[in-house]
Amino acid sequence: MAERIGVSHRTIIALERDFTGRVETLLRCMHELKLKPILCNSRGVPDDGNYNRVDVELQRVLIARADKAPQFALIQSDALDALRGMPSNIIDCAITSPPYWQQRAYEAGGIGEEQTVEDYLIGLRAVFQQVHRLLKPSGSLWVNIDDTYHQRSMQGIPWRLVLGLVEDCGWLIRNDVIWSKTGGSLNRSNNRLSHRHEHLFHLVKSEDYYHDHDPIRLAAKPARLDQPQIATATGLTLDACLERIAINDQLSDDEKSKASYEVRATFDEIAQGKLHDFRLVLRGGRVTHSDSQSISARASKLDQQGYYLLRYDPDGSMMGDVWNIAPDRSKGRSGHYAAFPEDLCDIPIRATCPPSGVVLDPFVGTGTSVVVAQKLGRHGIGIDLSDGYLDLARQRLQIS
Ligand SMILES: C[S@@+](CC[C@H](N)C(=O)[O-])C[C@H]1O[C@@H](n2cnc3c(N)ncnc32)[C@H](O)[C@@H]1O
Repeated sequence: MAERIGVSHRTIIALERDFTGRVETLLRCMHELKLKPILCNSRGVPDDGNYNRVDVELQRVLIARADKAPQFALIQSDALDALRGMPSNIIDCAITSPPYWQQRAYEAGGIGEEQTVEDYLIGLRAVFQQVHRLLKPSGSLWVNIDDTYHQRSMQGIPWRLVLGLVEDCGWLIRNDVIWSKTGGSLNRSNNRLSHRHEHLFHLVKSEDYYHDHDPIRLAAKPARLDQPQIATATGLTLDACLERIAINDQLSDDEKSKASYEVRATFDEIAQGKLHDFRLVLRGGRVTHSDSQSISARASKLDQQGYYLLRYDPDGSMMGDVWNIAPDRSKGRSGHYAAFPEDLCDIPIRATCPPSGVVLDPFVGTGTSVVVAQKLGRHGIGIDLSDGYLDLARQRLQIS
């Protein structure tokens, strides 16, 4: 067996005797034996129960959680192996970019080199089952993943992975963020469009997950108060609003006077700086989502009272799910070809990891996720097969 799958005899003995080793080796053995891998569901996710194995560095992070100074553990190991040796419910936010299938040769090999996309997905699913176990019920997982062209066809890897994760552990999918790679590399193909985006999925264990969107809101544009008349950021003025109400032939007199009263009161709030902007919708105008009353509460409000005001959040609007971020090109990380840009980690950590919480990256590479955690005052645990990449991560964190 060892010769057939190209590993040492000792590797096979360790796998057989202690069930330790890389998931890729296990999968190759199973192929040789013509066994079909079956993943267990979330309730059956195995840890190895041997927490004494847990790295001393990790113990330090877990004990220091309440401390102010961020603590870090960088563990050189196969991700599955390391995660299986960790206790449950310890992580606030996991963020990671696993190796993409057959796209890069990393220093220490590992996941991504499987012969088939199915085997690749099985390996990743096993890792994320462990991540699910390690996350607190309030925890979040962010997975950055891209597709691969194989025999001239995209494999659909991002969604195949995420649907597999949901099947395994019942994750709730909160967002599929599109990372639009500004200034991304040019596509050499002349028969398909240039591929310029990747996915960043946000998954949670429960509806009560921790989130604080205030730190990542887009700043509200202020109203212009110094004009002859107050104008909102989108250019609404009191006179223009009253005029629209007055000439609307689908409103009764009573509805017109109520709408005018509410608009005047809203401009008073704007003058006091309590609100920056709003949208005024009148009967006969375009409803924001749907005209169907069974679908849209706004449509039924419009039908009943003839108008409604949509107030912009004075604290700023919610970020959208398309992020324009340039790929990382930092010279300090020569030798690693797929490092995260810091901005891609910054938003998820701010929004879904509480201050002093613990961030986990099971494929930490040069440590971008934990570096951002450090900048934001969170603790971090990173795992990677490659000692070389972890050395770069240590340098970036300025820890020995
Ligand atoms: C896309 S890179 C992550 C880059 C990282 N986000 C950064 O900013 O540098 C994927 C990483 O997974 C590591 N890796 C591959 N197979 C692994 C395995 N089985 N266990 C742990 N790490 C693995 C590779 O060494 C590589 O550094």
